[in-house]
Amino acid sequence: MLSGSKKRPLSRYRTMKLSSPKRRLTHDGEDTAARRYKRPLWGRRPPNQKAMGEKAAENGIAAMAACYQRFDPASYLKYNYTPPRADFGRDDSIVPWKLARLHRAFTEGDVRGDLLVDVGSGPTLYQVLSGCEVFSKVILTDFLEVNRQELRRWLRDEGGCSLDWTPYLQYVCQLEGRRPSAWTEKAAKLRQVVQDVLPIDVHCPQPVAPHGLPAAGADCLVSTFCLESVSPDLAAFTRALGHVGSLLRPGGHLLLIGALGESYYLGGPGVKIPVVPLNEAQVCASLVESGYTLIRLEVYTLPQDMRVGVDDVSGVFFVKAKKL
Ligand SMILES: C[S@@+](CC[C@H](N)C(=O)[O-])C[C@H]1O[C@@H](n2cnc3c(N)ncnc32)[C@H](O)[C@@H]1O
Repeated sequence: MLSGSKKRPLSRYRTMKLSSPKRRLTHDGEDTAARRYKRPLWGRRPPNQKAMGEKAAENGIAAMAACYQRFDPASYLKYNYTPPRADFGRDDSIVPWKLARLHRAFTEGDVRGDLLVDVGSGPTLYQVLSGCEVFSKVILTDFLEVNRQELRRWLRDEGGCSLDWTPYLQYVCQLEGRRPSAWTEKAAKLRQVVQDVLPIDVHCPQPVAPHGLPAAGADCLVSTFCLESVSPDLAAFTRALGHVGSLLRPGGHLLLIGALGESYYLGGPGVKIPVVPLNEAQVCASLVESGYTLIRLEVYTLPQDMRVGVDDVSGVFFVKAKKL
């Protein structure tokens, strides 16, 4: 707030101005830093707090991006997508809970269209196993090339994948009332409908490169454990939610899954990635601020034995929302 800056002691203001002068030439060639020093003290402008805030936000996002350079897809998959977190014999295991929420959302009849985009896919495919039956085109996205490569290995059926997705495919077939052996058909369907695996940065107002997606926008976005895991604070999370909304057509649906009360997770051995700890009220407020109408929010509380030391998550939210 600029009004507060009037009360700031002059000495601090002066130190900030003089310690790091920005030397720029004006259009007529005058050095702006030098001109500032000539100006009488009472005529100096207060520091631009908006610009300082923007710089701090940029630094926070750059620090997150640096953390992600050490992300290890194979370790991440092992930590989160093997038992006990992916125990298909237990309904209270976290992965079956997520798959059941997505199955319901994609089969209620209101989520439909041609194009489904997954935001921040990481090295995982579970989040599109129900959607691939509803949408004729699916686009996966991630910030890191290592994750995009992991996805492409599975899509091309090349072998060498870090996780076997078969039990996931079988479980979703069961949710759909099909025999588990239909998993091979589902795998073929997914490989057929995925059109591309694109780079994305949710901190950019245009998160995907121009022409990466149709201008009309996707009919549905799904995003799981991405936005809170890449945002230094709640404001960045809310901005990211707005940025990804630009990829969605008006009236399109957003299916968002994320962590509650989490301050970090491990992206590999010794790779502690900070997370913005969210509560349900903050998720709802961010959605409204970013132009979505909330249809449903459900919460899963982690049983004690799912707290396996790879993060400090306390719960998971599932949101079904619609872009206004
Ligand atoms: C916690 S993982 C979630 C992966 C997967 N969606 C899941 O459900 O497990 C967070 C993902 O966000 C990606 N990411 C990091 N920075 C990003 C950014 N600026 N924009 C979009 N995605 C980003 C990471 O590469 C990583 O795959």
